[in-house]
Amino acid sequence: MVIPHFIGAFFIVELIITGSIIGVDGLSMDYYLMSCPFAETIVKNTVNRNLQSNPALAAGLLRMHFHDCFIEGCDASILIDSTKDNKAEKDSPANLSLRGYEVIDEAKEEIENQCPGVVSCADIIAMAARDAVLWAGGPLYDIPKGRKDGRRSKIEDTFNLPPPFFNSTQLIKMFGQHGFSVQEMVVLSGGHTLGTARCSSFKSRLRKFDATNDVDPTLDQNLAKAMSQTCNAGDDAEFPFDSSKNAFDNLYFNALQRKAGVLTSDQTLFTNPKTRGIVNAYAMNQAMFFFDFSQAMVKMGLLDVKEGDKGEVRENCRRIK
Ligand code: HEM
Ligand SMILES: *[C@@H]1O[C@H](CO)[C@@H](O)[C@H](O)[C@H]1NC(C)=O
Ligand SMILES: *[C@@H]1O[C@H](CO)[C@@H](O)[C@H](O)[C@H]1NC(C)=O
Repeated sequence: MVIPHFIGAFFIVELIITGSIIGVDGLSMDYYLMSCPFAETIVKNTVNRNLQSNPALAAGLLRMHFHDCFIEGCDASILIDSTKDNKAEKDSPANLSLRGYEVIDEAKEEIENQCPGVVSCADIIAMAARDAVLWAGGPLYDIPKGRKDGRRSKIEDTFNLPPPFFNSTQLIKMFGQHGFSVQEMVVLSGGHTLGTARCSSFKSRLRKFDATNDVDPTLDQNLAKAMSQTCNAGDDAEFPFDSSKNAFDNLYFNALQRKAGVLTSDQTLFTNPKTRGIVNAYAMNQAMFFFDFSQAMVKMGLLDVKEGDKGEVRENCRRIK
């Protein structure tokens, strides 16, 4: 039996979120209710199955959605494989070790078996990110569906992603260009409650190549030591963003209060008085973090979506039709 999900306790939350997205035509919470009623269940089961054997993929799926949406909108352009004639987004150094592609492939294959040509890869990424957050202990939220897949994926578009050395002024500006408030930028950065960064993303903080030749003063000295040790294993060695890398919680914000943010772009949120208050609020109140994060994720999931005939539904998420 198929039940439009989350009737009950979360109905209220859903109404609030739906209310704020009415401007986007073509998308709706129950978009696949008639055309592919099991789509959400298939994605959820596929995600849960994969995360059970590899919890680190929760971070991968969340990050994949972020990267997809920030480049060319949420249109699954991030999934396209390069071809002889086209270098795709995926091959950018800014792909920064994305993981979880095979989870999307698996869900897509199962969905195609049931309802061919109906469910977009862009929606599958958005649902998978949402399910990964919940699996890791984060908030439960519903998202509108109906995105179409884009027909463009170019390596040169990836300049739109924020680099790890950005300070909060630069982050505010870049997220602002995508329509996000300062608070939304901070709460979305809370996605770093999941996962790890590679040494190459933070090693410049361990020894500043300036006159002092010193460790970044906004970085806790003991943490710097641990990070340096990790880096002994090379540029690809991974360091967790917080002490619970597979759990979606607010420990990321607590870490920032202790100068234990891993990236410059993390710690800057606490260093800058403009964003420090928001960090403190989320560090103190996880429920507030969860609620604001859900809303910001719904909003991020609507960035430049290609509904209607502005896009397609791919058969294979890795290839434009
Ligand atoms: C605020 C600007 C942001 C910057 C500068 C940034 C940068 C980065 C960098 C450099 C990494 C590590 C990549 C590596 O070294 O392999 C990373 C990982 C990650 N990012 Fe972000 N990110 C930002 C925002 C976000 C947002 C908005 C989300 C999602 C809501 C997100 C989710 C993640 C996750 C989950 C990981 C861990 C991935 C894994 O372990 O596989 N990030 N980010
Ligand atoms: C990421 O980009 C590098 C080139 O910078 C490429 O070698 C690698 O295969 C890409 N990773 C993925 C998962 O596509
Ligand atoms: C952030 O970086 C920009 C560009 O490097 C610089 O002009 C600005 O002064 C920095 N802002 C802060 C608050 O450090």
